[in-house]
Amino acid sequence: MNTKIAILDENNIVQNIIDEAGLVIAQGGLVAFPTETVYGLGANALDEIAVEKIFKAKGRPQDNPLIVHVADFNIEPLVKEIPSIARQIMKRYWPGPITLIFNKSDLIPSATSAGLDTVGIRMPSNIIARKLIEAAGTPIAAPSANISGRPSPTDVESCIEDLSGKIEYIIGGDKSKVGLESTIVDCTCTPLCILRPGAITIEMLREIDNRVYIDKNIMCKPKKDFKPKAPGMKYRHYAPKAPVKIICGDLEKTVAKINEIVQNSMGKKKIGIMATDETKEKYPKGTVISLGSRENLDSIGRNLFEILRGFDVIDVDLILSEAFEEKGLGVAIMNRLKKSAGFDITFV
Ligand code: TXA
Ligand code: MG
Repeated sequence: MNTKIAILDENNIVQNIIDEAGLVIAQGGLVAFPTETVYGLGANALDEIAVEKIFKAKGRPQDNPLIVHVADFNIEPLVKEIPSIARQIMKRYWPGPITLIFNKSDLIPSATSAGLDTVGIRMPSNIIARKLIEAAGTPIAAPSANISGRPSPTDVESCIEDLSGKIEYIIGGDKSKVGLESTIVDCTCTPLCILRPGAITIEMLREIDNRVYIDKNIMCKPKKDFKPKAPGMKYRHYAPKAPVKIICGDLEKTVAKINEIVQNSMGKKKIGIMATDETKEKYPKGTVISLGSRENLDSIGRNLFEILRGFDVIDVDLILSEAFEEKGLGVAIMNRLKKSAGFDITFV
């Protein structure tokens, strides 16, 4: 398939491009587009056949439901009911990086919800995303625009790398501002439960209801027969080609441990090191990449997937990563890191 690629300036959007891509969606095709979290791969959420094409293009397991993206607050037709607590979250954090799970209405085909009775809905803040949804005239189902299992794309180059030739259209915009997928909150239960941590943190949600909690299963290695409420959380994810190992503990001891592993490999393995600005000088030069400063977790979140993909390009045999405190955005960062490492963590 010939994929049309158009790069837009988010401050000066060409409406013709948006209209053209909107028409592709309306006619049952696939369009990759930027959002503030990661790039999405969109299809008409109400069109079963279009949605099935997403699963095929990504190689996505059939039991993994898609998030439905909307551009206005009138989501009543898509859901059975909107609990008042969900309305408060929508009012406070939409548009933005948070997905809410509701009981679905019959309008949502089972291909979109992967057979579940529920649906995840999100209103992105990215202006291209919202204009595209408006132009399509329908809610857009969109997983991250990567081949299943790979790190999510946070720039248009990564989308092109994964999806060129497989879909009708790719719209490029800025690099994703958040760089980590949206927080997912199950609003069908009381108290509310976070199924995937993201930029809207538990601390921010507790300002609305202090009983909100994080599903305890998602921060540790899943047991064999574990069935998470967000089916996607059970798959190995965000994975570069080389295995990732996390070294966790006091920062000085972490640096010492990473240097020890590098030394013990005696040059037999090409080892990539995910460091931070505070530590990058303390490792042997070569394949050290800094995620950013520990003082600025936002930039670490923004860079994580891009750097994981970067290690594929320089073709390392092993990636060693420092860890972050599981507080604020650190919870989401560590969730993605642990999944990319298949929960291979050494404590020091
Ligand atoms: O930030 C995001 O959410 C991005 C952008 C494109 O909006 N999308 C995204 O989609 O991350 P995806 O498909 O890569 O991840 C969706 C996650 C999966 O883990 C899936 O299992 C879960 O959301 N999910 C979707 N619908 C659900 C539902 N009804 N109940 C529970 N989990 C659901
Ligand atoms: Mg994904």
